[in-house]
Amino acid sequence: MWIESAQLNLEIAGASNSGPAVLCVHGAGGESGLWRGVLARLGTEMCAAALDLSGHGKSPAKAEPHTIESYADDIAAAVQALGRGPVVLVGHSMGGALAQHLAVNRPDIVRAIVLAATGARLRVLPALIAQFKSTDPQGAIPMMTGAAFAPGADPAIVAAYTQSLERADPGIVVQDFRICDAFDIMSRLGGITCPSLILCGDKDMLTPFKYSSFLHEHIPGSALHALPGCGHMLMLEAPDTLAGAILAFVKPLA
Ligand code: COA
Repeated sequence: MWIESAQLNLEIAGASNSGPAVLCVHGAGGESGLWRGVLARLGTEMCAAALDLSGHGKSPAKAEPHTIESYADDIAAAVQALGRGPVVLVGHSMGGALAQHLAVNRPDIVRAIVLAATGARLRVLPALIAQFKSTDPQGAIPMMTGAAFAPGADPAIVAAYTQSLERADPGIVVQDFRICDAFDIMSRLGGITCPSLILCGDKDMLTPFKYSSFLHEHIPGSALHALPGCGHMLMLEAPDTLAGAILAFVKPLA
């Protein structure tokens, strides 16, 4: 679906009218296509969608630099375009930061959140930002892919992620990392009152399991599940397990 008013691309799978829609949001330098396997599974049982934030995938960049607020506005536009009321917001990494931000600031559009491989603070390695800003931004890609997967990951998914990073605009990735680096909601997690599911690979090197434990301890009533043998890229490393956990969480919300 193309959202003309907001200039955003929204991939939709499944047309079920029962239960809330599920909206997946990618992380820094990501795109909706990363959710393909998850959407395929979710779409068999519910309405599921994945957004290209401005400047990612098929959504053009805004004229002004992106901010956490502008990305939150993108998500609000997608929720409105879906037209099904408050959504279950599934956010990966930076997308998880956006989900937390919206759960606190726009509870009217968020039925529940799934926080996948993320944290309440997301400091970024300065060397990574510097490499993306350099004259050789592609040199940052091996730094990303080297840390994003559990050891022994299927070379095909590493290649798929590498290709998505090659398509990404380095200037946008730098904006995303600055947003991550400035994000800190640690002292406000008690303000999240919607149902919350926290998922993290036990081999995640970019947002270690400790970050998810912190979320679980501080978000009232939240549930926490580890995905064994997974690193940071849960939607590529274990799409069926991830989708199964989301389905089990969402069905009782209907
Ligand atoms: N949840 C719980 N604890 C957190 C946290 C979170 N979201 N974020 C940081 N912390 C903890 C750290 O574990 C650390 O605890 P410790 O002192 O007991 O070791 C402490 O808070 C301070 O951490 P941090 O704010 O990250 O500062 P730092 O100076 O220790 O490290 C970096 C800064 C950038 C080196 C580090 O965050 C890092 O290696 N990040 C790489 C991740 C990355 O680049 N991700 C990119 C994709 S988003």
